[in-house]
Amino acid sequence: MVSMREIFPGVWRDGGRLMTRNLVPGSRSYSEQLVNAGGKEYRVWDPNHSKPAAAIANGLKNFPLKPGMTVLYLGIASGQTASHFSDIVGGRGLIYGVEISQRTFRELNPVAEKRGNMIPILANARKPEDYPWVEQSDVVFQDVATDDQSEILIRNCKRFLKPDGFAMLSLKSRSIDVTKAPDAIYRREEKKLSGHFDVVEKVRLDPYEKDHMLFVLKPA
Ligand SMILES: C[S@@+](CC[C@H](N)C(=O)[O-])C[C@H]1O[C@@H](n2cnc3c(N)ncnc32)[C@H](O)[C@@H]1O
Repeated sequence: MVSMREIFPGVWRDGGRLMTRNLVPGSRSYSEQLVNAGGKEYRVWDPNHSKPAAAIANGLKNFPLKPGMTVLYLGIASGQTASHFSDIVGGRGLIYGVEISQRTFRELNPVAEKRGNMIPILANARKPEDYPWVEQSDVVFQDVATDDQSEILIRNCKRFLKPDGFAMLSLKSRSIDVTKAPDAIYRREEKKLSGHFDVVEKVRLDPYEKDHMLFVLKPA
């Protein structure tokens, strides 16, 4: 018996499973499980394969996405996590997704075509000047896993984040410096970010994602 509880707008929990309501019923965006409840179709959102889901599973209290929002997603890859964001923002919302790898971008295109609320952008997120037509966004989400993650986020938020919007950063300490303890990296990056943002919340993603921290931020 499935008992769904909406824990954030557009995000449901059924026992231990997180789910989003499928924007394109009957269709999978990767190999996720589909669940029917109350005449609606949901897609299981696995914390082992998606950092925002890992943050929610670890007790995140401030999840800023809502139906109708515009999101700029940096490091969208093949759109696995973004497909759940696409479910959450729904048909009135929009996801702009920046990806640098051509190979991965090819896998993203069919997902975006099917969903209708995702705009794939083949570009380097270090250069927001290459996609100046992107709208002002309610949320900028960043998961590029590079050593300059904080700088990339700051640069994009200056250009595209609404003053009352939220930034979300999935920080991978081993991408920044494999020789340093994750806690030292989190402190150093938080100091950099605090020149530009107020930290609303931070949640470790272990054991789902080793040595990762997810930050929810607001422009200072
Ligand atoms: C950890 S993966 C993202 C996974 C994805 N967020 C998900 O959960 O489905 C990081 C992605 O960022 C991309 N990337 C790395 N550097 C980038 C850059 N400078 N600009 C845009 N994308 C970048 C990589 O090609 C890779 O696809």
